[in-house]
Amino acid sequence: MKNKLEDLKKQILDELAKAKSGELLRELEIKYLGRKGELSNILRGVKDLGAEERQEIGALANAIKTEVTAKFEEIKKETESKETATGFVDVTLPGKKIVRGHLNPISIIQAELEDLFISLGFMVADGPELESDYYNFEALNIPKSHPARDMQDTFYIDKKNAEGEYDLLLRTHTSPVQVRAMQKYGAPLKAVVPGRCFRSEATDARHEHTLYQFEGFMIDKDINFSHLKGVLELVGKKLFGEETKLRMRPKFYPFVEPGTNGEFTCLLCKGKGCRLCKNSGWLEVIGAGLIHPEVLRAGGIDPEIYSGFAFGFGLSRLAQLKYGIDDARLAMSGDLRFLQQF
Ligand code: PHE
Repeated sequence: MKNKLEDLKKQILDELAKAKSGELLRELEIKYLGRKGELSNILRGVKDLGAEERQEIGALANAIKTEVTAKFEEIKKETESKETATGFVDVTLPGKKIVRGHLNPISIIQAELEDLFISLGFMVADGPELESDYYNFEALNIPKSHPARDMQDTFYIDKKNAEGEYDLLLRTHTSPVQVRAMQKYGAPLKAVVPGRCFRSEATDARHEHTLYQFEGFMIDKDINFSHLKGVLELVGKKLFGEETKLRMRPKFYPFVEPGTNGEFTCLLCKGKGCRLCKNSGWLEVIGAGLIHPEVLRAGGIDPEIYSGFAFGFGLSRLAQLKYGIDDARLAMSGDLRFLQQF
């Protein structure tokens, strides 16, 4: 009996050593350790032995069972880790969650406005961020000595042209695309231009050196102020809700005549007056007007035949107002804690 047990142990350990796959292991486990397995049979027979033998064989059989079971577990672990490393996939495990990104609030507003203007038949135009002095200023009726250049602190590129002037810069607004588009497409023309602009500013919670603007213009015969007003009203409703009202007051920009600002009823207090609108009930967000005849001429369009309106506003500022973002620098910080809120 004793020998039989020792032989069985040897046999089990030998076969175990050869078992390479999890499947084989499970077969062996049933064959030897299962309820009807060989070792269990012997253990079951122990009770029929004489008292002395019973004790000895019982102890030995139990010891073998413990040893063999431990060996089974050890080898099972080994083959399991090998099998996963060689491409075994447990399809019952829960999947890995794919983390979805978030759109930047500026992108969200830009897409909303593009949709609105595309539905009105506008094209979405583009222009260079590295712009010439000519398109950024001259063509927009802002000559060299014009004090209006001070309105927009400019990053110039450190490279002089043949005349010894710095004539390349980072565009300070999207308005240069007005003239570029006129030259490229002629009249009539309806376009919006979302884009990145730069101003040499010290940054703080209200100012960023890099900002996003949204420009729009429409040129055709007999375009007048009411067309501008109608379009801006739509923008206000789209952004801040149906009940939003528009107010326009005179404002100077060299490239429009007459020039105006566009104010919407404050989205927080709906016009009653609060901290956001400095108790005025209105938020000034837009610069606009009828395109100056000189600008149309620079674009190759005859101001005696055509007229047009143009407007521009800061997408960054709109996003700040709409989503109650209290620091202008957050939108471009790349901070996930910020982005994940949209
Ligand atoms: N370009 C002006 C700015 O950056 C905004 C503007 C655009 C004003 C078009 C009038 C017409 O402030």
